[in-house]
Amino acid sequence: MLETEFCGLKLKNPTVLASGILGTNAALLKRVVREGAGAVTMKSIGPREKLGHPNPTVIEWEHGLINAVGLPSPGYQNIESEFAELKNCSAPIIASIYGASVEEFETVAEAVAEYKPAIIEINISCPNTKKEGQIFGMSPEMATDVVSAVVAKTGKIPVMPKLTPQAPKIADIAVACEKAGANAICAVNTLGPGMLIDIEARKPILANKFGGVSGPAIKPIAVRCVYQIYRAVSIPILGMGGINSGKDAVEMMMAGASAVGIGTATHYRGIEAFKLIADEIKQWMKEHEVKSVKDLVGAAHD
Ligand code: DHB
Repeated sequence: MLETEFCGLKLKNPTVLASGILGTNAALLKRVVREGAGAVTMKSIGPREKLGHPNPTVIEWEHGLINAVGLPSPGYQNIESEFAELKNCSAPIIASIYGASVEEFETVAEAVAEYKPAIIEINISCPNTKKEGQIFGMSPEMATDVVSAVVAKTGKIPVMPKLTPQAPKIADIAVACEKAGANAICAVNTLGPGMLIDIEARKPILANKFGGVSGPAIKPIAVRCVYQIYRAVSIPILGMGGINSGKDAVEMMMAGASAVGIGTATHYRGIEAFKLIADEIKQWMKEHEVKSVKDLVGAAHD
């Protein structure tokens, strides 16, 4: 009932751990798989070792989270042991990469491809970085340059650019990525940058001042983005942004997602979020006599 396929991979259910959330080491990724995720995404791997921003880096507010972690990474030079530990993982591993230039994306992609992850996610949408990871996902031309460079280095491994909801015409970015050789689209990254101020301290709360907004607040934007992308491309979409329940996941699949990313929900519902959301999808399907999750994909389109 919940089994599905994404980009040629078999998933036991359509829930996928989003990048940057619990994906910072192999032990946590494996734990998320044990907790029921259909696939897991690693924290984005960058061109060099990087500490990230000082605390506070993540804050809960009324309708979601805001974060500026600062793309901390061991660097592609130091990831061998993590991948070795992930070898016997029972669910597909999605590696995520970032760079501040096309050349950096190429270098990281080539190194990461050696470890043969199931998919390589290309983070062209981080809202927080100034020099590193400038938002390539804002223009079809920049997205094309990065995706085609990565595709040339990754052989048979499918590549999946992660898009920003800030793109003025997100469907155009998705089309450019598909033309450049992308095998799937991940949509969407956090929205932002946003900002919160501690009025007693009269200071921005995040050390970085600005951060990416996630959670229930962005769900309508994420659903709209996925809906528009689905109409424009024929490659599968990993839909995410504010999915907190089985009903949210059903909605995202009806917009056109073949699988759904879970991130901020792990904050609200714990690491059990994957199993809880998968069970809720199943329950909804039973009540509505839907036999396969595949029948939900794109169901809201005319
Ligand atoms: C960070 C990276 C992202 O891609 C994002 O959406 C939010 C935060 C970061 O590491 O700061």
